[in-house]
Amino acid sequence: MSSDAVYSPPNEMPPVRIHKVLDGQKALVTGASKGLGQAAAIALAEAGADVLVNYYSDEQGAHHTVEEIRKRGRNAVAFKADVAQENQVLAMFDQMVESFGRLDICIPNSALQLNARVDEMTIAQWQRVIGVNLTGVFLCCREAVKLFKRQGIDRSISYACGKLVLMSSVHDIIPWAGHANYAAAKGGLMLFMKSLAQEVAALRIRVNAVSPGAIRTPMNVEKLTSPEIFQETLLKLIPNKRIGEPEDVSRAVVWLVSDESDYVHGTTLYIDGGMTLYPGFIDAG
Ligand code: BGC
Repeated sequence: MSSDAVYSPPNEMPPVRIHKVLDGQKALVTGASKGLGQAAAIALAEAGADVLVNYYSDEQGAHHTVEEIRKRGRNAVAFKADVAQENQVLAMFDQMVESFGRLDICIPNSALQLNARVDEMTIAQWQRVIGVNLTGVFLCCREAVKLFKRQGIDRSISYACGKLVLMSSVHDIIPWAGHANYAAAKGGLMLFMKSLAQEVAALRIRVNAVSPGAIRTPMNVEKLTSPEIFQETLLKLIPNKRIGEPEDVSRAVVWLVSDESDYVHGTTLYIDGGMTLYPGFIDAG
């Protein structure tokens, strides 16, 4: 490989079709201009849903997501909002109702990393990560639950009153030096999800989370463009020995918001090629 060629680990994900399990449902995905949010929005459309595509900075990416959704014969609108700002989240949910008339599925996905060791971390780095990755999830869940309660159950759409899948991370249980703000947000997100799931279970509002490991997304770009970092660092952490693809995660999201998983509630699905299996203990310990 020439020195300026960009390395990209091979894709070994099995091709699996997404079935039309969400026909006519209305979904909102935050951070849907790239990465896991974009893949989730497109997969939901593939399964039959119309989607509000939220973005913050990447308008072009959001338009690409909208185009991909329309190619699949579904409706989509892009909406700019900073999920850490209450007034912008309220405006986004107003837009959802105005565009689609209702909400069946909400995927609070927006997240960012602002890495620093704790003794060097600024208050701005701490607050922004907690603001987007945790407070943003709270605000979206709060507004979604209000809407779900107002709408009630319509069994011609789904046996659930509404579905929430929170985008978490393996770092909701794996400590991550140099990323304490991110791990604190994701760890907090897990018990927020479970507490909310307890609160709304009897209303048949379903709440779950997915926790991806290392997935081929823009957030991971520097780990995937260097064969050395990929082989020497990342693969040592992944027992399955392959990088995850965004579709590995989005297929699980579709299942978790469909009636196929009706009795799955308050749980976190790890999609990580075994990263949470303490791989350091393979041939050790
Ligand atoms: C992070 C990735 C990281 C992965 C596993 C994810 O939450 O966004 O950057 O590779 O966790 O450490």
